[in-house]
Amino acid sequence: MNKIDSVNILGIETSCDETAAAVVADGRVVKSSIVASQTKLHEKYGGVVPEIASRAHIEKIYPVIAEALAQAEVGKDDIDAVAVANQPGLTVALIVGVTAAKTLAFVWEKPLIAINHLHAHLQSALLQEDGFELPAPLEVPPKSLIGHREGPLLTGPAVALIVSGGHTSLYDYHSPLEPRLLGCTIDDAAGEAFDKVASILKLSYPGGPAIESIAKQGNPKAIRFPRSMLGKDSLDFSFSGIKTAVLYYCRGQDMKGEDKVDSMSDEQIADIAASFQAAVVEVLVKKTQRAAEKIGAKTILLGGGVAANMELRTALQRMCDSNSPLRKLLVAPEQYCTDNAVMVASLAYHKFKAKLFADLTLEPKATG
Ligand code: KG4
Ligand code: ZN
Repeated sequence: MNKIDSVNILGIETSCDETAAAVVADGRVVKSSIVASQTKLHEKYGGVVPEIASRAHIEKIYPVIAEALAQAEVGKDDIDAVAVANQPGLTVALIVGVTAAKTLAFVWEKPLIAINHLHAHLQSALLQEDGFELPAPLEVPPKSLIGHREGPLLTGPAVALIVSGGHTSLYDYHSPLEPRLLGCTIDDAAGEAFDKVASILKLSYPGGPAIESIAKQGNPKAIRFPRSMLGKDSLDFSFSGIKTAVLYYCRGQDMKGEDKVDSMSDEQIADIAASFQAAVVEVLVKKTQRAAEKIGAKTILLGGGVAANMELRTALQRMCDSNSPLRKLLVAPEQYCTDNAVMVASLAYHKFKAKLFADLTLEPKATG
């Protein structure tokens, strides 16, 4: 450790299509955050192609890490640990970050910290714009945390909703190190549904921002797409049905009809986008409300790429307001919604304090 109470962690993230590295001090102060996005490479395929992602990570990993260290003005002697997201994700992508982190940890003789990518997304909801972290949810906040920093004080218990291109999960969050999975998607992730529907509607990639943008001109009640709730107590999600419903709406039930999208007006496309978005948001909010009631949550945390969606944020805020003043919504700042390494380094600080280190046998894992 270079300074008495400052722990600098280098975080590395390569679980999908962003090569990212960051240096974060004490889990809270962002010294650098570099993200090389591969969106352009995958655009023409309408989704992430694992082989292309892996090659691009190999190309970018060194320059991205070098840039993160340079921007933070730190060298190997200032780094206290190397953290890497090793699960879940595309194994051919994860392996690039894991190999880089293991190599640096070995050569620099620093502890290695393995991070669950989804738990890191969850951590991002506790960060503010400048990276400062809110205190963890506690039933009764100790006096030392009261007034810890300006802004909302987290009160527990908390439910966390992580919505991304690869995952849609609800957690019971009571500590950064022990989030408990309450439910997850049984097929497509919410972001994946946005991407696939955008592709059906011939909108740009990634689909989430494209759908959100065109939906502003549409009527969310124009088409009643199905809302899959999977039974009255279920906290799992299913988004493949709504994607198929949009497909049938555009191509006919038997898929033999002509693709009507080409002859649709901008208004018709906007109505489909708005109606699809409304259905997905409604399911996400209802399930989150269900989970919140189940564990008596006082705080809702929102993270992952789809957390950038304003309709979702507004609907969750409304749900919290209707339970006001008991329930609060904390959303990841926009730059930490999509994949980044700040969330990895920030969560790693808690593992560092708990001395939860990995060894050089660490492997990437697709699930988690
Ligand atoms: O968290 P993320 O960067 O990567 C994964 O871990 O998957 O999330 C990417 C996903 C994509 O599916 C993208 O379409 C979606 O987040 N997304 C959005 C919005 N911005 C990004 N979905 C809905 N509305 C948005 N504004
Ligand atoms: Zn992610």
